[in-house]
Amino acid sequence: MRPFSSPSPFTWVTCTLAFLPAVLTTPLPKRTQGVSMGLDTDFPDPSFLKAQDGKWYAFGTNGNGKRIQVASSDDFSSWTLLDIEALPTLSSWETDKEHYAPDVILRDDGKYVMYYSGEAKSDIGHHCVGTAIADKPTGPYVPSDTPFSCRLDQGGSLDPAGFEDADGTRYVTFKVDGNSIGHGGDCNNGIAPLVPTPILLQKVQPDGVTPIGDAVQILDRSTADGDGPLVEAPSLVLHDGTYFLFYSTHCYTDEAYDVRWATATNITGPYTKTNVELLKTGDGLISPGGATVCGCGDRMLFHGWCDDSKKQRCMYHAGVDLSGQTANIV
Ligand SMILES: *[C@@H]1O[C@H](CO)[C@@H](O)[C@H](O)[C@H]1NC(C)=O
Repeated sequence: MRPFSSPSPFTWVTCTLAFLPAVLTTPLPKRTQGVSMGLDTDFPDPSFLKAQDGKWYAFGTNGNGKRIQVASSDDFSSWTLLDIEALPTLSSWETDKEHYAPDVILRDDGKYVMYYSGEAKSDIGHHCVGTAIADKPTGPYVPSDTPFSCRLDQGGSLDPAGFEDADGTRYVTFKVDGNSIGHGGDCNNGIAPLVPTPILLQKVQPDGVTPIGDAVQILDRSTADGDGPLVEAPSLVLHDGTYFLFYSTHCYTDEAYDVRWATATNITGPYTKTNVELLKTGDGLISPGGATVCGCGDRMLFHGWCDDSKKQRCMYHAGVDLSGQTANIV
């Protein structure tokens, strides 16, 4: 069904008065059960955490005049966009444009570490992952002088997300933006030869920002899996001994954009794709993706086009149930 479509007209044949109240009731727009809009404004690629003050804070891609947007909520249901620039200063490697997909962790020393993507001065149109540190969840986040990952020869680095393993070891997942150096077409990777868009896992020191060893690949796009031009937006969660890697497939502009998950019993993989669309276009959602699932495993934020004009990506929240190798929206 088309998102936000009005109810189909019914044919007026014969109707007793007793039926009238029921058929004249205007149904609410149908939505995927368990999914609700949290911010009716442009707030793409949302991530979130519960801060030391007990509130939820969400972070979004540049929009509403901010490089990095921040919203807060007491109950994960009612959200307020804050008039705060979370990243008021820039690092020397980045331009003032295109700050994408921030993710924030609370470090053991009480500081907040933001991972984000910024445009590389040395390679306009391509991105590096940077890190920035703050004393409060709303910032100001002070960026590191050096990028965390660039890989510009492979297209750049994007979509970082922090992860803390059961033993406290910290990792960062991110996407190698291969399609930015693809050969054109769908998200610049629709024309053969298609290029890889790997999801990498980088172990880091307890400071959250210093890499330990080399990053390892844990996922990639595959035509056989129906991923379209890319996989992106990783979000890693551990539940009952199973690692759940949530990700989006297809171009974010496309109605085929979605949220899927893969599972593994070892953090480094191998990850088995379920190829199940946890969220997809329909039932009031348009191109849902860019999801983050919290470490608690029971809730998520994601974005979808606010309406058919496809100009802004609104933030949605949903409940998640993880069981065995399976994820469900609840
Ligand atoms: C996970 O895989 C890595 C790489 O193969 C291996 O070194 C490590 O021992 C594995 N960990 C567990 C808990 O099996």
